[in-house]
Amino acid sequence: MEQPVKILLMGICGYGSNYIKEVSEREIPGIKIEGICEVVPNAADLYPIIHEQNIPIYKTPEEFYQEHTADLAVISTPIHLHYAQIVTCLTHGSNVLTEKPVCTSVEGARKLEQLAEKTGKFISVGYQLNYSRDVLALKKDILDGRFGKPVYMKALHAMRRGDKYYARNGWAGRIEVKGCAVNDSPFNNACAHQFQVMTFLLGDQMERAAELAEVQAEPYKGNRSVENFDIITVQAKTVSGVPLWYGTAHAIEDKKLGPTAEYRFERGTVYFGKDFGQGPVAEYIYIGDDGTRIDYGQIPKGERLQKFYDAIDAVRQGTHPVCTVQCAIPHLEAVEKIAKLPITVLPQDEVEDIREDDDTFHAVKGLHDRFITCFKTRCMLSQPDSNRG
Ligand SMILES: NC(=O)c1ccc[n+]([C@@H]2O[C@H](COP(=O)([O-])OP(=O)(O)OC[C@H]3O[C@@H](n4cnc5c(N)ncnc54)[C@H](O)[C@@H]3O)[C@@H](O)[C@H]2O)c1
Repeated sequence: MEQPVKILLMGICGYGSNYIKEVSEREIPGIKIEGICEVVPNAADLYPIIHEQNIPIYKTPEEFYQEHTADLAVISTPIHLHYAQIVTCLTHGSNVLTEKPVCTSVEGARKLEQLAEKTGKFISVGYQLNYSRDVLALKKDILDGRFGKPVYMKALHAMRRGDKYYARNGWAGRIEVKGCAVNDSPFNNACAHQFQVMTFLLGDQMERAAELAEVQAEPYKGNRSVENFDIITVQAKTVSGVPLWYGTAHAIEDKKLGPTAEYRFERGTVYFGKDFGQGPVAEYIYIGDDGTRIDYGQIPKGERLQKFYDAIDAVRQGTHPVCTVQCAIPHLEAVEKIAKLPITVLPQDEVEDIREDDDTFHAVKGLHDRFITCFKTRCMLSQPDSNRG
């Protein structure tokens, strides 16, 4: 009988709780949770599966590897710990599924690529849209030239995040933690996906993203208690010259604004979140200039944590999941370039404090409308009147 895929889960109390819940609820065949790395003292009591299956918990991966091996390490720890933990896991013979971003610098990401190559193990990055079967079908159609050449891509995705969000750990909204660049922001974290997926869709191969030739941005701070920016518009250009526009924020009144996306090609446009008359459709839909319509929403997306299942399958089959380190690099490069830009702190009288339930949100007045205008014209927040169509 085939040996089970032995898995190490690292960080199970934040986003990583999704993985342990999936394992608890789904009885995934052919896997064994060999151990957990977590620093929260009562972690063993949080999920019944830990006692039921006698899963050992360690504080560090080094301690885990003294007693165990793992075929796959799933890393959902704070951003600034990823690099060192990935190195430890690879050098102890594990493949890695790491939450995004892969690490905190392009230089580090390239070193990780080399180490993965040397150890013969894969690093798969957790940008979940890249694993979604509708996105992969769309990417295949783009690669096959079905819509002609890409002309531009743009996306808008903002959601309010208040004091509770920033207080949940020691690194949310921080630029640096203990001398390590974290660059946490809506662009790097909660709303990272809609920018990264544009670079992924424009990659010249299924497992590659388009690298960026230019990145310009206007970062603003609405919530003064946050170290990093919490509002941004980004204009970038891929190396093959496709302009990208992106807008995101947390200091906004909207619980959710978007995601909305428009990807223009020579022969038509791919929309996400477009209102065709009955409210926004949260699916990718291509409308050709000749009237052709392709509903990518008809394609089953796969599992909610498809990235986890794909990593397990890749271990079994000796292959590599689709979201490689290279697919994470253009987004990381944009994060690093943006980190060098000055942040404009908005005047206090432009910011409204909204108290709701047991949280307080700090929303920049009128930002919703300004974002909508900027999305239309692909301009920066400081120039909402420019008209680039
Ligand atoms: N894919 C997504 O949609 C998505 C969504 C949210 C977060 N994330 C990513 O998940 C990662 C974690 O984010 P979060 O918001 O859950 O962070 P968090 O800080 O809230 O939680 C991280 C977890 O790691 C644990 N931890 C901290 N130090 C550790 C250590 N040295 N060893 C082992 N465990 C340790 C913490 O106790 C906690 O359980 C980040 O990379 C983030 O970008 C991804």
